[in-house]
Amino acid sequence: MKYDSPTILMCPPDYYGIEYEINPWMSRSQQSDLEVARQQWESLYALLQKLGARIELLTPVKGLPDLVFTANAGLIWKDRVFLSLFRHEARQGETAVDRDWFQQAGLETIEMPEDYFFEGAGDALFCGDTLFAGYLIRSDVKAMQWVAAEMNCRVIPLQLIDEFYYHLDTCFCPLSETEAIYYPPAFDSYAQQALQEHIPHLIPVVDAEAQRFACNAVVIGKSVALNTGCPELEQALLERGYTPHSTPLDEFIKAGGSAKCLTLRLDGECVAVWP
Ligand code: ARG
Repeated sequence: MKYDSPTILMCPPDYYGIEYEINPWMSRSQQSDLEVARQQWESLYALLQKLGARIELLTPVKGLPDLVFTANAGLIWKDRVFLSLFRHEARQGETAVDRDWFQQAGLETIEMPEDYFFEGAGDALFCGDTLFAGYLIRSDVKAMQWVAAEMNCRVIPLQLIDEFYYHLDTCFCPLSETEAIYYPPAFDSYAQQALQEHIPHLIPVVDAEAQRFACNAVVIGKSVALNTGCPELEQALLERGYTPHSTPLDEFIKAGGSAKCLTLRLDGECVAVWP
């Protein structure tokens, strides 16, 4: 394995902004404040380092404001990365930048088949040896099945039904092989049932905290980094033996992202057991 300790890819927000609208959080009339975004990003960066992660940096590119959301660069699996194939043209330019970075880092890049939309770790999350895969709004179910077949792993497709929770990492966060945070209304009833069957301890978040991107948390061992304004989830985490660390990320919510979206675990999530 190339990375043997927690290593996270991030991209500084030099060219971040709301330049187009591809999810209901984004409004060009509600611009982000670049200076505040920079401070919030720096605080997250420092927090993750404090929690034991090594941070690698992707160089920002003008005209690619969402490049900051490195979770969508691809899905890491051992020394390989399944590159994203973005549904929206506005983000498709990111893939060449991501591909270059991964290749210079020594990872093998795998391209999706034509028309198989796939948005990387934003929609595909390992919990143990099983890939939980959000589909419909961004990624295609056929793309998820293709990726899982390439890895020879079990996949549980989860249909996302709420445009505000368009990526799986906005409404689901595995904590350990038996525990996860989730926002039930984001899933169709079949997906809710699948989650209940496969994950013994599910922590539901309330509407108000889902809107604060409570589920979009970064888990490093027993530490959980997340946006501010999620007191109920913080309490539930403490009760389960986790330590929440909140840091303000409001500027990124304007684009529909928070802590988790701003990161990509290059060594695989702590909770992932790669087949
Ligand atoms: N504006 C970006 C988009 O709509 C936000 C991506 C957030 N990333 C994530 N992994 N949820 O694509």
